[in-house]
Amino acid sequence: MTFRSRLPALLGIAHPILQGGMSWASSCAALPLAVSRAGALGVIAAGPMRPDDLVAAIRAVRAGTDNPFAVNVPLYNKRSAEFLDIAEAERVPVLIASQGGPKALPRFRAIGTKWLHVVASPLHAAKAEAAGVDAVIAVGGEAGGHPAPDEVSAMVLVRAVVKAVSIPVIGAGGVADGAGIAAMFALGAEGAQLGTRFLMTREATVHAAYKDRVRAAGIGDTTLVGRGGLPIRQLRNAFSAQVDASERAGMPAAELDALIKSRSLKDAALDGDVDWGKVEAGQSAGLIDDLPGAEELVHRLVAETEAARMRLVA
Ligand SMILES: Cc1cc2nc3c(=O)[nH]c(=O)nc-3n(C[C@H](O)[C@H](O)[C@H](O)COP(=O)(O)O)c2cc1C
Repeated sequence: MTFRSRLPALLGIAHPILQGGMSWASSCAALPLAVSRAGALGVIAAGPMRPDDLVAAIRAVRAGTDNPFAVNVPLYNKRSAEFLDIAEAERVPVLIASQGGPKALPRFRAIGTKWLHVVASPLHAAKAEAAGVDAVIAVGGEAGGHPAPDEVSAMVLVRAVVKAVSIPVIGAGGVADGAGIAAMFALGAEGAQLGTRFLMTREATVHAAYKDRVRAAGIGDTTLVGRGGLPIRQLRNAFSAQVDASERAGMPAAELDALIKSRSLKDAALDGDVDWGKVEAGQSAGLIDDLPGAEELVHRLVAETEAARMRLVA
């Protein structure tokens, strides 16, 4: 890929493409290993993992490739301190922190681990830069999982974050192919992170019914559940319709919160309950209609990005 980027030198990767850390979908070794083998950055999502399983996954990725990989730790998670201890003890090459401030950064600096920080606003990005993080990942409102709470689109957010910091910015939200990656570079980002696209690979560990729903979805088939708090972007289903109806009917906030928490990503990802579970996916679900292997996908993304670049200059 011929776009200018500091990320290959910073992280030791061939291609400035990140597989987004995705609870359940990449809480394993298979997907991150395949992505890192192909020269992009594979990311183990620690969120729902048992500590022993996280250690085993880190060791399995390391056994399968000499290329760098990352562990994603959502800092609000009740086990985040334990996950950070494991990442430090295992000396992971890259740590990706989301949903919180970069407090544990000095420990990782000391062992040479690179720290990437997920941000949802230019202010948050500037604070992360001042704290000394190596790069920020700006995730726009189109994204699956927890997008920017104020719903600002990647088109606007990534541009604003690029203007706010001088460290490398990785753009995320709505990117499903090389055209989307090239768009992030056009905005001034030096790399792109893709979640939903990598969820739709053979290695991603979500139920087949989940992948079928994402494949069938159009670009307008996602919705935000839990606006006003920590919203989740998921496919519209019976559960999201129940939440919408309850909101419209004026359900008291505490009851609504309990309703939203009564269903989980696990229900959909592990048990295949795609009607009542949280089928987290981004708007880019509507751009995706196949299920390649993750290595093949990385190679395809690299070729598509180059083709998009050529289209712009020819
Ligand atoms: C099913 C699913 C689970 C996710 N889990 C996490 C997570 O555990 N930690 C995190 O930082 N981001 C999580 N994300 C967000 C992704 O890392 C990524 O930023 C996002 O998917 C990018 O937007 P896209 O889906 O439009 O490509 C998740 C996304 C999805 C679709």
